[in-house]
Parts: sequence; C-alpha cells; structure tokens
Amino acid sequence: MYDLLVIGSGPGGYVAAIRAAQLGLSCALVEKNHSFGGTCLNIGCIPSKALLDSSELYAHLRGAGGHDVSSHGIKVGKLELDLKAMMTRKQQVVEKLTSGVGQLLKGNGVETFQGIGRLVGKGQVEVISGEGKKKTLAAKNILLAAGSVPVQLPAFPIGKDGFVTSTEALSLKSVPAKMVVIGAGAIGLELGSVWARLGAEVTVIELLDQILPGMDSEISRRLRSILGKQGLRISTSTRVLGYERAGKDKSEGVILSAEGSDGEAQQFVADVVLVAVGRRPYTEGLGLAELGVKTDERSGRVIVDEGFQTSLAGVYAIGDLILGPMLAHKAEEEGIAVTEIVAGLPGEVNYDTIPSVVYTWPEVASVGKSEDQLKRDGIEYSKGSFPFRANGRALAMASEDGLVKILVDKRTDRVLGVHIVGPWASDLISEAVTVMEFGGSAEDMARTVHAHPTLPEAVREAALDVDGRSIHVLSAKIGLSSRKFR
Ligand code: NAI
Repeated sequence: MYDLLVIGSGPGGYVAAIRAAQLGLSCALVEKNHSFGGTCLNIGCIPSKALLDSSELYAHLRGAGGHDVSSHGIKVGKLELDLKAMMTRKQQVVEKLTSGVGQLLKGNGVETFQGIGRLVGKGQVEVISGEGKKKTLAAKNILLAAGSVPVQLPAFPIGKDGFVTSTEALSLKSVPAKMVVIGAGAIGLELGSVWARLGAEVTVIELLDQILPGMDSEISRRLRSILGKQGLRISTSTRVLGYERAGKDKSEGVILSAEGSDGEAQQFVADVVLVAVGRRPYTEGLGLAELGVKTDERSGRVIVDEGFQTSLAGVYAIGDLILGPMLAHKAEEEGIAVTEIVAGLPGEVNYDTIPSVVYTWPEVASVGKSEDQLKRDGIEYSKGSFPFRANGRALAMASEDGLVKILVDKRTDRVLGVHIVGPWASDLISEAVTVMEFGGSAEDMARTVHAHPTLPEAVREAALDVDGRSIHVLSAKIGLSSRKFR
C-alpha cells in the first residue's frame, strides 16, 4: 500500500510525486502516455516555447513584422526555412525534458506505471496498460492530476477540413498560406505568432471585445497594437458561425462565416483553422461519478476543499482539474502543497501571487489585480508606469515597445498588481511576484538597487513613478515627491 498514488505526470503530478519522495512517503505515479510531463512538456508549454524561439530568430533574420536584424547593421543573404529541422529540434527539447522527468522520478524512488488509472474503490486504483493488462494498486491517499484537454466547438470538426487544436498546430508539416485562429487567448496569440513569423497570413478571431480577456485592458490594447504592426490581423467582438469548403473541387481550404457585434456578416478564408477557445478538465475515465467524487456541473472542474481534498476522503485533486487558472506553475505549487498536507505539514498556495505570462514578442506578464479589477472593486489605488523606450537596455536591444505598470494601495503603497508588456516580461515579473509575496511596497522596489543597464530598471522606474520620482521620463506627477518630503 502506497502512502500516495498520483494519477497524471504533468507538472502538477510529477512535482507532487517528487516532493512526496523527498518527504519519505512511498509514492507511485500512473501515466497513460508513454512519456512523462503531461500536456505542458509534450504538447504545450515546452514545444510551443521551442517553436516561439525558433520562429522569433527566423522573423528577425527575415526582417518581418517589426523584428529586424538590419537595424543592427546585419545584412542577411538568402534565407531558407527548414521546417522539418525546426520541428526535429522542438521534439529533441521535449524528449530531453520528458526523459529527464523519468530519471528524476526513478532517482527519487517513485514507482511508475504506464496505463490509464481509474478509481475503483476507497484507496483503490485500477491501471489498464496500453497492452490492455489490468492491475489494481492500493494507496492511503490518491492525487488526481489528470490535467485538461482542448474545448471543441461543435460546428468545427477537429481533424477534418483543416481544423486543428494546439496539439496539431505544434506539428504542421508546412506553413499554411492562410491561417485563422479562433480565440485570442494565450494559445491563439502564441501559436498565431509562430505561424505568422514563419510566413502565414494569420487572422485571430475573438468573441469578446479585447484580446486576452481578463488581462489588464491597457496592456491588452498595447499588445494588440504591437501585434497588429507585426502583421497579425485581429478581429474582436466577432462570433464564428460555421464554415464551408472553398474552391471548385472543395479542396482550397475553408471559408468561415462570422458576425460582428453589430450583426454585420463577415467571412474569413483559411487553409488551417486553429481552434483555441479554452481547455476543460480531463476527467473522463477517472471513475469520479461512480465513486461520488463531486464535480462542478457547469465547468466540469473537480470540487475540492481548501486542503485540495475532493468529496471522497483520501482523494485529492490539483491543477487544471480544479478551479483557477490552467497554468503549469499553479499546478506545481498545488502538487507540493497537497503532498505536504498528506505528510502532515501546512501546505498552502498563495493564489494572489500567481504570475501569468503570454510568450508573444514582446511578452506579456502580470501578477495580482488589474487596473480594471481595482476600479470594479472600488479599491483606491495609485499607479506608476514606465515605457521601455526610455530604458537603455531595451534601446540597445532594439526592443523598446511596451511598458511596465505598477498598481499600489493608495494608502499603504502595498503592491497590488504589476503588468508588463515588453522584452522578457516573463523574467521581469519574478521581481514583482517576490515583492508581493513579502507584502512589499512600491517604495521597496524603488529603493532596491537594480543593475545598470538592464531591463529590470524599467520595473524600478515604474515603482519610482508611483509618486512622480521616475528619473528617466518627465513625469506628469512632477513635484509630488518633493511635496511628500516637506
Ligand atoms: P483561453 O481561455 O486563454 O482563451 C480562449 C479565448 O477564446 C478567450 O479569449 C475566449 O474569449 C475566446 N473564445 C471562446 N469561445 C470563442 C468562440 N466561439 N469564438 C471566438 N473566440 C472564443 O484558452 P486557450 O488560449 O485555449 O488556452 C487554454 C488554457 O491554457 C488557458 O487556461 C491558458 O491560460 C492556458 N495556456 C497558458 C499559456 C501560458 O501561460 N503562456 C499558454 C497556452 C495555454
């Protein structure tokens, strides 16, 4: 009998298993795929970042869409895209990481089983291997970490007529001439960017009135304008209705029909249509209903208490299966917390400081409340911002689009939210997360020494700007800080 049995080896599951082993718990992990790492490592975060980095290099050399090495005085001769080699490299990155996870699990003494895991009784999980062999494992605690799958739209059949999900969009055999992306969320913008950089004409169709709904609307507008300059066509407040196959012999892609918010009919032509309208928890076959594990009727998410325990004692759930953003790092933290709880420690996750990143170029990163949320909640706040065009390092990199925005409690100066669109925003956000984790203020950030010349100086300058002390822009709030010291 294991102390902990984990179903699913994504960032939530495998991290939980490793932490369990560290804590001296006997642990087993069941994974249905033949490689570890779940969606993130196999068909999500990692392969998409490999393609984002490769396509970014190509776009720079091609001088396409706002990226241009010629501004650095570099002339490029004949340029050729070897998509097959690009995909091979992507796969090598994936294999290195997934096999690394296998070695970590083994090295930590986690027993692994390949197969589909299903709850069959209290503390009992049946595993059916790829070859159809059945085995029942017993555990004191069971952790469900089975992740999520793409939401499908009934009108658009995945696998037919050029309709794909993110999984297939990571492995297209050729660059489509025209690609339509349905959904301007993280997947739509990241994979839309990849294929646009590689030469496709990409149109992103979004149902709501902004890209990255939920993101701070000022940052979202700025990103939209930058991506527009890069050649990405974006149509918001647009509802896709259906499609028909194009061409005399119906072999020339599809024509999508759509309508705008004013009811105006629109059409979009595409060879490939990426449907990226969200993901849903992957609970099929886990045996939840049979054992009375409650799920939310509307979202399908597994219901858990504050200790991640489901309605069935001894069964826990984390990551994309439960409420909250579907992010690998959120799942990891929950995996660690649940294992610590099982081991009798006070495991917990601070949901107020979970950063969110979209890996377009420039990147978008944020943590905490957006300005829209603060307004909605009637919280009095002060704001500081700083543009990358006034940051020496960003200018040296020829990547000066974007800004840092810091939102603080008006009375206490405590940081409530930080939002960045700009170069390496994914790395820059770490400082904000740390400050927020410690309950820090803009003043703490402003008085912290930042190396020069670096991009993080833009974060410090935004903190200085909260009360008009930014050095490298003429602040509209000039005079405010001197008043403070009188
Ligand atoms: P999402 O929920 O982030 O975005 C889906 C978008 O599709 C939304 O903007 C939504 O308004 C729109 N939409 C929904 N129905 C539509 C329709 N019928 N027509 C047009 N637009 C429609 O979901 P996405 O991008 O598919 O990603 C899935 C999950 O994976 C998300 O939770 C996301 O956070 C996560 N993810 C995170 C990444 C990151 O952190 N960089 C990268 C990729 C995915």
